[in-house]
Parts: sequence; C-alpha cells; structure tokens
Amino acid sequence: MEDNFISFFRPSIGDEEINEVVDCLKSGWLTTAARTKKFEAEFSKYMGFSHAVAMNSCTAALHLALEAVGLKAGELVLVPTLTFATTAEVVRYFNAIPVLVDVREDDFCMNMEHAAQILSDIEAGKPVKGVPKRHKGVRAIIPVHYGGQVADVVSARRLCEKHGLFLIEDCAHCCPAYYQDGQGQWQMVGRSADIACFSFYANKTITTGEGGMALTESQEWADRMRVMCLHGIS
Ligand SMILES: Cc1ncc(COP(=O)(O)O)c(C=O)c1O
Repeated sequence: MEDNFISFFRPSIGDEEINEVVDCLKSGWLTTAARTKKFEAEFSKYMGFSHAVAMNSCTAALHLALEAVGLKAGELVLVPTLTFATTAEVVRYFNAIPVLVDVREDDFCMNMEHAAQILSDIEAGKPVKGVPKRHKGVRAIIPVHYGGQVADVVSARRLCEKHGLFLIEDCAHCCPAYYQDGQGQWQMVGRSADIACFSFYANKTITTGEGGMALTESQEWADRMRVMCLHGIS
C-alpha cells in the first residue's frame, strides 16, 4: 500500500548525522551555540557570502530580512502568485501589502515584465489590482526560485536599481543552483539579492529538520537580523 504513495519527503540521514545529534545532546548545548556558528561559517563560505544568520526557519529569515531593510506599515512588496504562503505572509506581519505578480509559464517564477508594468503603473498613480489608493510606496521585491529554478534575478535587480527597491530572494527551494549574470558569468543563487533566505525544512535539499538562514553582504543587516532573532538581545 505504502508503495502507491509519493513521500512528502525522504531525508537522507546516515551515521554521520546521527552521531552529530548524539554528540550535541551529550554536550549539553541544546540551543544555538558552537554547532550553529560552524554551520553559519561553512554555509556562507560554500555559498560565497560574507554574512550568514541562522534562524529557526526561512519564514523567520524573510521576516527579519524585511525588518532589516526597514519595511513599514502601508508599504508595498511585490511577490509572485505561485509560492508557499510565507512569501506574502511575512509582508502582512508589518501591516504592509503584498502585491501579486504573475509567474511565467515555463519556470513558474515571477514574470519580471509583469513586475515592471506594475511598478510603472504604481509610479504613474494608475490603478493596480490589490493596491489600495492610499499606500506608502514600494519597498521591495521578493522573487521565489520555484522548484529549484532560478528566477530572472538579472531583470529583478535592474528593476530594483531603477525604482530604488530592495531585492530579497526566497531561495527556500533552491540550494545550490546557478544562474548567468548580466555578463554571462555563472553565479550562485542569491548573489543578486540584498538578502537571500534559505530553508532547511525536512523536504528541502539540505535539512536540519526545521531551520533557515539569511545570507547578505551587509554587516549592518546581518547584525540587525542577529539581534532581532534573539529578542533584541545583543
Ligand atoms: C517558497 C517557500 N518559501 C518559504 C518557505 C518557508 O520555509 P520554512 O518552512 O523554513 O519557514 C517555504 C516552505 O516550504 C517555501 O516553499
């Protein structure tokens, strides 16, 4: 009977992982400690980023990424129509407004032509579906790399430069993966982002059971996210 079902996830857990968990339990350090620091250091090196902040989920990483770039109530954030609830949900934590952008048929990732149209319409004061008349402007774009496919981040970065926005990437499905930048060079997913957020939930390519990570080149944003994920304690 079991064979008729496709597992939601089937993690690859070997002796190395089991021994690591046992060592952790024996060490008495059950909360964020040296192992987390080591994971942050190794993950940021592997992904090629200066700063990594480990969290309990990608949801937390996206939430604190938006906090770090200063999202305020009444502001707008562009998110794709096709994603997990988190991508839009975190915007609502601020009483800000997620604006839905179509996805492309070929890769299910945000359609940047539609995003460009929405941004121009908002700037021109034209009506846009889901955008209230009274809003406080656009703060960020969150493309999602759906099902392991890297979104068109070259266009997303261009849009952010043009309109003065932050680029937060939802990389929950995508680690590792590469894309070609504007010069045709291969780059690791997340490199275009101001802050790139990863998930280590049980069905992801790397898992810690539950977990997430924010990667950034900004010391200031990394420090802010680190403090905010520990209840404001420095
Ligand atoms: C696209 C996307 N973003 C974010 C998340 C949230 O990840 P987490 O469970 O680590 O909070 C998920 C979860 O599956 C997801 O699919």
